Amino acid sequence: MSAPLLRKARIQDVKAIHGLLLRPGEGDGLVLPRSFNQLYSHLRDFFVAVDRETDEVLGCCALCICWDDLAEVRSLMVRREYRGQGLGRLLVDACLSEAVTIGIFRVFVLTNQEAFFRKMGFAEAAKDALPQKVWADCVNCPHFPDCDETAMVMEL
Ligand SMILES: CC(C)(COP(=O)(O)OP(=O)(O)OC[C@H]1O[C@@H](n2cnc3c(N)ncnc32)[C@H](O)[C@@H]1OP(=O)(O)O)[C@@H](O)C(=O)NCCC(=O)NCCS
Repeated sequence: MSAPLLRKARIQDVKAIHGLLLRPGEGDGLVLPRSFNQLYSHLRDFFVAVDRETDEVLGCCALCICWDDLAEVRSLMVRREYRGQGLGRLLVDACLSEAVTIGIFRVFVLTNQEAFFRKMGFAEAAKDALPQKVWADCVNCPHFPDCDETAMVMEL
């Protein structure tokens, strides 16, 4: 594989992102699948890591704006065979950098991957410290109402 390239997602990536988030065994239920409708309407939130030569999508991550001072890292997924090569960090860093660019200095994630996000600089936070608006999507989650995810926050 040539060195991966990190870039904003394009419309041509949507099918690959959809497949990646749905692929059996990739997410092990740790990432919510997203519908085509959600992906098209939130495409501008997404970064992808791609193979520089083939443009194949190797991983994805989205920064979703919640409010005037808060954004969420969502849909982080790296294809199993490309893990452990720094792509997860690259994708999260791209989201954090974009948050700063647009003037948002507080980013959170709901995750079961606490150790990974601690490495990225996030810290555990009480779920009720996040505004109610954050929970709007929870009703669509297969785990609702028995949420097993940890809220983690990064101040930038
Ligand atoms: C979590 C995930 C995105 C990490 O991607 P990755 O490309 O393997 O991560 P990186 O190679 O960039 O790792 C960066 C650092 O985190 C560490 N790390 C990676 N995965 C880790 C994990 N599950 N637990 C603890 N540390 C982890 C790496 O060792 C590396 O540490 P270093 O900088 O000290 O060398 C990937 O495992 C994945 O897609 N998992 C399934 C989907 C998922 O759980 N997404 C998160 C939903 S919120």
